[in-house]
Amino acid sequence: MKKQMLYHELAKYYDMIYSWKDYKKEAHLIKKLVSRHKKSKGSELLDVACGTGGHLKYLKNSFSCIGIDKNKEMLNIAKKKVRGVIFKQVDMINFTLNKKFDVIICLFSSIAYLKTYQNLEKSLKHFHKHLKSAGVMVIEGFITKSDFKPNHLYMDVYDGKRLKIARIGTSKIKNGLMLAEMSYLIGEKGKINYFLENHELGLFNVNKVLKIIKKFGLMGTFIKGGLMKDRGLFIGVKI
Ligand SMILES: C[S@@+](CC[C@H](N)C(=O)[O-])C[C@H]1O[C@@H](n2cnc3c(N)ncnc32)[C@H](O)[C@@H]1O
Repeated sequence: MKKQMLYHELAKYYDMIYSWKDYKKEAHLIKKLVSRHKKSKGSELLDVACGTGGHLKYLKNSFSCIGIDKNKEMLNIAKKKVRGVIFKQVDMINFTLNKKFDVIICLFSSIAYLKTYQNLEKSLKHFHKHLKSAGVMVIEGFITKSDFKPNHLYMDVYDGKRLKIARIGTSKIKNGLMLAEMSYLIGEKGKINYFLENHELGLFNVNKVLKIIKKFGLMGTFIKGGLMKDRGLFIGVKI
C-alpha cells in the first residue's frame, strides 16, 4: 500500500478538507470526559496521531501537551498552527517518550490505521506504558464491520476564494479491511489537479477492543456517538 497522500503531499489541504469538523466543541467534550474519569493529580496530555493539531489548539491552555504523529508533513502544519506544544515524529505502534501522562488521547479514528488487532494490541501496550496511575486515555474508534454500508458515498467541499476542493469518497471491504477510495479535485492558481488514493482501515469490534484495553489492567468503557454520530469513544482508566 502506497503512503497516504492526504498525510503527505496533500497534508496542506487537510484542514480545509475537514473544515466542517468542530475541533473546539470536540476538545470541550474531551475536557469534560477527562475531568469525569481522571483521578491522577497532574495535567500532562499526549495526543497520539495528532495530525495538524486541531484538538491540541483548544487543549493546550488546560494541559501541558505533547503531540505525536507518524507523518512529518502533518506535524509541520501543527507546529506552525499550535504554538507552545511539543511535537514529535513517532509511530504509535512502538514508541518510548521517557515520560508518563495523565491523559492520552487518540482521536478521529486514527487507530483504524493500525489495521489489525495484533498491531492495535502493540500500540495500546505503549499507550498503557505512558499513562500515569489513575490517568485516563480516550480513544475514538471507527465504524465496525457490522455498521459498514456498502456503496456509501460522501463528499467534502471547501469553497475558498483562491482555493476550491471537492473530495468524493466511497469504500468497500477487501481482505477484512475497509478500502476507502478518495478522489480529489483541487483548484488553485488557475489550475485544477486530480488525485486518487486509497486508505486501508481496520474495522475493529467494540468488545474486542475493550478486551484488549482491559487486558492491560485498565478499566474500560465505550461511549457510543462520543464526538461523531457514527462512531464512539473508548475510555480507559489506569487502576
Ligand atoms: C484522520 S487523521 C487524524 C488526525 C487528528 N487526530 C485529527 O483529529 O485531525 C489520522 C492521523 O493518523 C496519523 N497516523 C496514521 N498512522 C499512524 C501511526 N502508525 N502512528 C502515528 N500516527 C499515525 C496520520 O498521519 C494522521 O495524522
